[in-house]
Amino acid sequence: MANILIIDDEPSILESLEMFLGEKGHTVIKADTGEKGYALFAREMPELVMLDIRLPDMNGLDVLSKIRNIRHPAKVIMMTAFQDMETTIDAMKRGAYDYIHKPLDAELVEKTVNSALHVLKVDRETPRVNAEALPRDKDVIIGKSENMRRIFKMIGLVCQNRATVLIQGETGTGKELIARTIHRNCRFSNEPFVTMDCSASVETLLESELFGHEKGAFTGATATKQGRIELAGKGTLFLDELGELPRRLQSKFLGFLQRREFSRVGGHEILQSRCRIIGATNRDLAVLVKKKEFKEDLYYRLRVVAIQVPPLRERLSDIPELVKHFLQKINNDLQTDVTKLQNGVIDRLMTHTWTGNVRELENCLVEAVVRARGKVILLEDMETILDTDSGLDSEGLSGYSLPAMEKGHIEKTLRHLGWNRTRAARAMGISLPTLRSKIKKYHISEPSA
Ligand SMILES: Nc1ncnc2c1ncn2[C@@H]1O[C@H](COP(=O)(O)OP(=O)(O)OP(=O)(O)O)[C@@H](O)[C@H]1O
Ligand SMILES: [Mg+2]
Repeated sequence: MANILIIDDEPSILESLEMFLGEKGHTVIKADTGEKGYALFAREMPELVMLDIRLPDMNGLDVLSKIRNIRHPAKVIMMTAFQDMETTIDAMKRGAYDYIHKPLDAELVEKTVNSALHVLKVDRETPRVNAEALPRDKDVIIGKSENMRRIFKMIGLVCQNRATVLIQGETGTGKELIARTIHRNCRFSNEPFVTMDCSASVETLLESELFGHEKGAFTGATATKQGRIELAGKGTLFLDELGELPRRLQSKFLGFLQRREFSRVGGHEILQSRCRIIGATNRDLAVLVKKKEFKEDLYYRLRVVAIQVPPLRERLSDIPELVKHFLQKINNDLQTDVTKLQNGVIDRLMTHTWTGNVRELENCLVEAVVRARGKVILLEDMETILDTDSGLDSEGLSGYSLPAMEKGHIEKTLRHLGWNRTRAARAMGISLPTLRSKIKKYHISEPSA
């Protein structure tokens, strides 16, 4: 049972709400102006306020702001007969718990009041996530599992030299993060870190991206351009989605790796480069080699040092730490203060399959923070997020092979989002290049109208 303050200038609303909420066992106090309402709030500190927008003496939104300025975790439900978009957005931005319309619907009032009180209760019962033990560095790699410790050791070893490194792992496992960490810990960390996505473009463009081109090398080459190898200088060249590199470029790149010499497209000058190469791929290069899609000798050149990043489902014990880390990061980025997790949330996260790995976990938490209306992430909110994002749905599993399911899920997501690839990739917790390569792999195409 709660103390509820109602601020409205309509006597009929005051009376009916008082009666309705009183019957449910709540204690009701009332005010018919903004001024009186605010004074009553400051004196009585109720848990819940039901606040009209149009008051005789002041705007309800300003009363809302004043109430929110007092450090008291009351929830405020706005009531109005006018339902314009701007006021609704403004109210939510100023920290209203919810917004309901007049004429009031008894069922909705009860539901909204109960839900606000529920959030307050969970908030009171839940301790803050203890973030003290966390390092301040936002680029830190979180992980205590055996696998991750092995990776930390490897990073430490390769930092001392310029050996070529190949990082393999499913999408979202942290391959790029690892590559950046290697670079950051090298003696040459003040030299450039240059990224090149091998799946982002067609063969000829990739070639000039990588090696550069001379003026007039092809139509449109109006000036000489340095390629990524040159731009990397004495630093690191990070080749992402390496498995997508076309066959001909694989040969050319192997030549570069062997001699450390190259020419720009259309050029004759022999250039040299000492850059460190880090490659990453979410495909199994050994399999691609067997299928003759990836050059065997290039594969052996690249995997001088190989780092295999395990999928998140094989290191579920890292989830609690990851969650703390991401909450801190997200709150900082979004200027929010969601620091509590209802009992059961972590357990629920540890039973999910995480096909999008750590990136999916991060996206999931961003969504949860945005949904949270208070400091606490509710179990039911997390359920909803996980259920909509996960690949398994009512169509069931029987008779589906994993690739067929993946294909079906990608098609469905794309259709659902109007074939917007950026949004679909985000929804599935994978990168856009990864989505592109899967679309290619599964021959998915948008049906022509
Ligand atoms: N162990 C970890 N600790 C903290 N953050 C992590 C960890 N692993 C991944 N992340 C974060 O998860 C997100 C995805 O990681 P990253 O981009 O490195 O994945 P990826 O393996 O390169 O994925 P893709 O194959 O889709 O390109 C990033 O925001 C990254 O900072
Ligand atoms: Mg990546």
